[in-house]
Amino acid sequence: MVKMEQIGFIGLGLMGRQMTRNLLRHGFPVIVYNRSPGPVEEAVKQGASVASSPKELAKNSDIVIAMVTDAPDVEQVILGVKGVFHELRSSSLVVDMSTNSPQFAQHLAKELAQKSVELLDAPVTGGQKGAIEGTLTIMVGGSEAAYQRCLPVFQAMGSLIVHMGAVGSGQMAKLCNQAIVAMDMLAASEAFLLGSKAGLDLKKLRQVLSSGAASSWTLENLVPRMLKRDFEPGFRAAHLLKDLRYLIDTAEQLQVPMIGSALAYQLYNTIVAHGLGDKGTQVLVTALEEMAKHRIEPT
Ligand SMILES: NC(=O)c1ccc[n+]([C@@H]2O[C@H](COP(=O)([O-])OP(=O)(O)OC[C@H]3O[C@@H](n4cnc5c(N)ncnc54)[C@H](OP(=O)(O)O)[C@@H]3O)[C@@H](O)[C@H]2O)c1
Repeated sequence: MVKMEQIGFIGLGLMGRQMTRNLLRHGFPVIVYNRSPGPVEEAVKQGASVASSPKELAKNSDIVIAMVTDAPDVEQVILGVKGVFHELRSSSLVVDMSTNSPQFAQHLAKELAQKSVELLDAPVTGGQKGAIEGTLTIMVGGSEAAYQRCLPVFQAMGSLIVHMGAVGSGQMAKLCNQAIVAMDMLAASEAFLLGSKAGLDLKKLRQVLSSGAASSWTLENLVPRMLKRDFEPGFRAAHLLKDLRYLIDTAEQLQVPMIGSALAYQLYNTIVAHGLGDKGTQVLVTALEEMAKHRIEPT
């Protein structure tokens, strides 16, 4: 029987707790670390063991996965005082599945190389639904050997896994994804606000928009929540703001205009300024509602 790699999983947030559950279901031994104790208990019930710090987690892990919020958070759990770096074995592999910038992935890879440890940047798309169902799309940057080694682990969490190229290219692909995600939400918010103010039946409107050229993942998964005024997060608005910031910075370096993304960035900035950063990205519609002086009634 093939020995399964010992996984160390850091970050049991909306995504990480589901991804861990799928790893356990597929028979991987998993050690978890989460900053706050809340979600750890659930993971233990599902069969995970627990580490008291990322450093301790690294002692016994073959593959360390980080699924935390932003680059400074990854930096902290990997390179910080209690970070995995201090206990990593040279045979270990580090995988950052959080959404960050390509530049950060390259910086992290350089630091890890001091211990002869490789990094894969492997951000995901498919939302909380994809994480629950194990159908995430995973975009991977890093060496072919590291990618092949990690493939069975990715297959436990996702249904489409693509090796995009060198370190940073996973994050680059994810930023391209976020340009579409942000503008789909902006387009859907505008369309349903217009339809509502014009007095259309929004259930019927969603039905027709979902079946033709306007159909999208956003329309399928997030618009129904928006129309019920359910703004609980599958994907937090503050996280999309972070992604748009990385997207715009990266595009500036490449001298590519990001006109629509910049507009979405400003609107999400307003959402976060209104204290709504922990709501789901569908909360964007409320910013437009204020401008239109019209509120969509729950359907
Ligand atoms: N949600 C989605 O639909 C989705 C889809 C694709 C990609 N992503 C990306 O995936 C990543 C995670 O998203 P999520 O939705 O799971 O976020 P989340 O629910 O906010 O969870 C974030 C996790 O990171 C931990 N964390 C944050 N800062 C930390 C630090 N400095 N040290 C240690 N732990 C820290 C949090 O710990 P605590 O519990 O202690 O706060 C929590 O476990 C983000 O980069 C996001 O952009 C999300």
